[in-house]
Amino acid sequence: MRVLVTGGAGYIGSHTTLALLEAGHDVLVVDDLTNSHAESLRRVATLAGRPAQFVEANVRHDDVMEATFARFLPEAVIHFAGWKAVGESVAKPLVYYRENLDSTLTLLETMQRHGCTRIVFSSSATVYGAGEPPLSEDAPTGATNPYGRTKLMIEEILADASVADPDLAVGVLRYFNPIGAHASGMIGEDPQGIPNNLVPYVAQVATGRRAELSVFGDDYDTPDGTGIRDYIHVLDLAAGHLAALDYIRDHAGYHVWNLGTGRGTSVFEIISAYERACGHPIPYQVLPRRAGDVARSFADPSKAKRELGWEATRGIDEMCVDSYRWQSNNPRGFTA
Ligand code: UD1
Repeated sequence: MRVLVTGGAGYIGSHTTLALLEAGHDVLVVDDLTNSHAESLRRVATLAGRPAQFVEANVRHDDVMEATFARFLPEAVIHFAGWKAVGESVAKPLVYYRENLDSTLTLLETMQRHGCTRIVFSSSATVYGAGEPPLSEDAPTGATNPYGRTKLMIEEILADASVADPDLAVGVLRYFNPIGAHASGMIGEDPQGIPNNLVPYVAQVATGRRAELSVFGDDYDTPDGTGIRDYIHVLDLAAGHLAALDYIRDHAGYHVWNLGTGRGTSVFEIISAYERACGHPIPYQVLPRRAGDVARSFADPSKAKRELGWEATRGIDEMCVDSYRWQSNNPRGFTA
């Protein structure tokens, strides 16, 4: 299939672009490189043995999108592009609403003009708010910050669009906590500035770029007191996108799937696994809880297994080994 991937130079986008190329699809990436690097796509081309086409543009630019659709004639779209930092979204809500909603509307309008009826959307388990795990797709939704609200609003836009157009096939993927990297160590997560998320921070402590990790709270109602999340290897996540694409090829309508492992891992368990991966202790100090965090979040991934035949296969140790390989090979990310 010809697949247009927005945000394909980013962390999850680059791993999915590689999986698409390896599966024989023709891929065109649209990415404005505000939070990603063209180098990731050069490395994807090396790994795949052939490149994805690349258009450097913001998805909101409808003239560029129009020309790109007219030239590439995509049969499906995977929509990753968007702003994604929780704290920043609280400080700059209008930027988040403008960027994330406008880009999606432009994309959907362009798809409609060109008769492209298949879209996979990159959503997040953040839409479950403080819901009680295991979280299934029919759990109540409710976001707690503007970033999360853009995800929920886009899900609703996609649902409405699919009601209006019975040919439209929508796959919404709610990711739990993606970590890890391709086993080559050539592509991985390269956050700008100080990492907000746990594993990218641990990775920088493990390689000496930062002195110590802050553990946000050890007084949660969990076995060791630290927060529990459902970490999923980014390669399993990428495979989930291919499975969803396959499904919506012949299933019109609106579909939602969780992509998680169904297993919870605490912050202390992540530190231990990372210490095994890097072979030395990870210094940390315990600080108070981070505002807005929940104690426990993990998926009920059974719907994806049932409908897509997909399930995560990689465990926490493999995730940490692959993360460490990427980080130690590329201590400054793609810019080194
Ligand atoms: C966060 C976002 C979520 C977003 C997701 C993207 C918040 C509140 N939530 O999820 O909306 O979809 O990233 O991947 O920001 N932790 C530490 N020290 C750190 C960083 C994190 O102890 O330096 C702890 C947290 O308290 C939490 C766990 O590690 O218990 C995971 O945190 P994180 O990686 O930021 O992911 P989420 O909070 O689950």
